[in-house]
Amino acid sequence: MQNMQTIIDKINDLKKMKNAVILAHNYERGEIQDIADFTGDSLGLSQQAVQQDADIIVFCGVHFMAESAAILSPQKTVLLPEIHAGCPMASMVTAEALRAEKKKYPEAAVVCYVNSTAEVKAESDICCTSANAVEVVNSLEEEEILFVPDKNLADYVAQNSTKKIIPWEGYCPTHNQILASDIVRVREKYPDAEVLAHPECRRDVLDISDRIFSTTGMLDYAKKSTTEEFIIATEKGILHRLEKENPEKKFYYASEFAICPEMKAIDLNALLLSLEKMQHIISVPEDVRVKAKYTLDRMLAIKRSR
Ligand code: 13P
Ligand code: SF4
Repeated sequence: MQNMQTIIDKINDLKKMKNAVILAHNYERGEIQDIADFTGDSLGLSQQAVQQDADIIVFCGVHFMAESAAILSPQKTVLLPEIHAGCPMASMVTAEALRAEKKKYPEAAVVCYVNSTAEVKAESDICCTSANAVEVVNSLEEEEILFVPDKNLADYVAQNSTKKIIPWEGYCPTHNQILASDIVRVREKYPDAEVLAHPECRRDVLDISDRIFSTTGMLDYAKKSTTEEFIIATEKGILHRLEKENPEKKFYYASEFAICPEMKAIDLNALLLSLEKMQHIISVPEDVRVKAKYTLDRMLAIKRSR
């Protein structure tokens, strides 16, 4: 059994030797976030996948994120250290089911949340993340929007747009189990704290929250705000950066159970093995990649707002 520092040293040596870059989502394990070259939300990670000047991207996140990097940067080798790390919400819509639904709404534009497979992206008109969903929808000419797969994010967009939003019945199991009663209970304990929620949460949670942000939006806000205490309604992994970047402030979980097991699948051993053995390479068939890239490029042309 190698000790932690030996593993970290080996990862850093291999990274240099192979001209690799490590990208990690804000929900990853703390030790993975600490060794990453860039940690961010889905939008930031997609932007980094394009901007990074490296031969290899080691993606510490879930499958759709590594796939997005492979779609955007086909000249780079994209590695996902744990091949079984997938997003249950992304599996709630298939390209086949989406094609059938599109027939029912021929006038609608299809907006797919980035938490979706390459095949679903290829069937869509434009992609969005939690950081730009409202802007993406409002940028479209169409008045009718088929929004897949997150019904909670679709509902949030509907509240902030005049468009007619047709939601898909998907959801994030981690965010969907955070209840309004959790917020009420934690707020009673910490009445001065501001509640920051992710738009993958249910509407009744968002309704009683003070602010709604993507994960990077939360990090930016917590840093610049004069508030000293926050209740956080999203996956627990974000507390790592919140606490590290704001040692003088206090952060409380809205729910002890808001843990995404998929986002915890990669540890330092898996990351080292990934670089040593060049596993697991994520690639997308070219015909699907080109169509999916169009939806991601269209999204990346729109500015982040939160
Ligand atoms: P963001 O970091 O883009 O807000 O996404 C949250 C999420 O659940 C990713 O799986
Ligand atoms: Fe998917 Fe939710 Fe996990 Fe994000 S937190 S990867 S949306 S299940």
